Amino acid sequence: MRIGRPLVEMLKEFMEKQPTSFHVPGHKNGMISGLPKGIQGALPFDLTELTGLDDFHHPEGAIYEAEKLLAETYGANRSFFLVNGSTVGNLAMIYTTCKRNEKVIVQRNAHKSIFHGLQLVGAKPIYVSPEWDEKSRTATHVPLSTLKEVLSIHRDVKAVILTSPTYYGAVSKELKEQIALCHELGIPVLVDEAHGAHFTASRRFPESALEVGADMVVQSAHKTLPAMTMASFLHIKSNLVDSERVNRYLRMLQSSSPSYLLLASLDDARHYVQTYSEVDANYLLEKRKQWIEALRSIPSLQVIEMDDPLKVLLRVPGYTGFQLKEALEKRGLYPELADLHQVLLILPLLKQGQIFSFADARISIKEAVQSLKTAEKINILPTTLKEIQKISIPEYSFDELEEMKVEWIPYVRAIGKVSASMVIPYPPGIPLFIPGEKITVSKLSQLEELIAAGASFQGDHRLEEKLLCVVRS
Ligand SMILES: Cc1ncc(COP(=O)(O)O)c(C=O)c1O
Repeated sequence: MRIGRPLVEMLKEFMEKQPTSFHVPGHKNGMISGLPKGIQGALPFDLTELTGLDDFHHPEGAIYEAEKLLAETYGANRSFFLVNGSTVGNLAMIYTTCKRNEKVIVQRNAHKSIFHGLQLVGAKPIYVSPEWDEKSRTATHVPLSTLKEVLSIHRDVKAVILTSPTYYGAVSKELKEQIALCHELGIPVLVDEAHGAHFTASRRFPESALEVGADMVVQSAHKTLPAMTMASFLHIKSNLVDSERVNRYLRMLQSSSPSYLLLASLDDARHYVQTYSEVDANYLLEKRKQWIEALRSIPSLQVIEMDDPLKVLLRVPGYTGFQLKEALEKRGLYPELADLHQVLLILPLLKQGQIFSFADARISIKEAVQSLKTAEKINILPTTLKEIQKISIPEYSFDELEEMKVEWIPYVRAIGKVSASMVIPYPPGIPLFIPGEKITVSKLSQLEELIAAGASFQGDHRLEEKLLCVVRS
């Protein structure tokens, strides 16, 4: 395989010509930009589809070469660069495989872009719930047995949409078997691997969904590879999915003015994976091991390792993750997220010889943990997935909901009503209410428990006013 960065090289060659800009973008190579100097420095590379710079939607030159190298690096039949995150990849996967009123099996703890895709297409989701993992105190994956059960009832599904790894770095152990089962029935499997773009880089990392047979896989290169925010990949390796159809939808969903900074960073991130060696992986894993050992000597601190070596959880019993996060941020250390129980750290995908400030970070973590002694202790209720149905189908389809009148009512009066919006407790990150689903007594009591415990919520809600949006009856 050729080792190079065709897109980066193309931009460098173009800039060497010292071109005068009489074209978009309006900042004229940064010349009339008022942005800070550091950002201005990158603007000459913020080019557009000029002569010789290829065409994102009909690539024939450097973009074509770079996407070909991407597919080779990941072992895909065809791969695409995405300039609107995994979000646009999820939308394109859904548009490609599902039509209005067609059934789709969807892991319930999916990212909102999946739900939005289903809503836009007007597909009929059948939700399957993940298991609860006590070690990480997070919702993880749908068991194979649930998938078998749902497929034995609904044989006419057009796609199965799974997420692995989770945000917290839990990798599905049964993905291979699940994909094989779906393939026996001729059903394509779409995997949201937003957090696993680095898995392909080393044999010592978890297996990528592509390696275990997924038909389409979306990855946020920007989450764990050295790519710019929004820069993502979409891979196809399937005889059930038409890659031209994917291409067509991507042309509709993505900008006609792609950022060349993003494209260059994707080319660079792909190159980083391609040149990542086992020596690099050994170096990273050794540094990580030493750091985790050092962290474990901090009194009261619990360190939880996940399947993904880049994900580490920190917990201090008696204190919420939100308290720990605040204490860390006061010391200049910014975690990825906090939940009731813990904070999530994402480690860098180091290559041999690269230095990261692990030692300083340990000092900040130690100080933060010590500072919590003066903070108020919180009685954290154990989060579980109790009474969440294994398999559920909404009362109304997205299309039916569009035509219905909705109203905001106090949530204590919502029992028996149909939810018109999505409410996602975080954790566990699984929607408690999905548009079209009935609000039951048990779900409402879970909502109250979570509010009392200080959980935060994503989605469309006005919980601070104690209101939920429901279908007017
Ligand atoms: C599991 C998952 N899928 C998809 C996305 C969307 O990715 P992006 O931010 O690249 O659009 C996210 C974002 O956090 C995510 O966590």
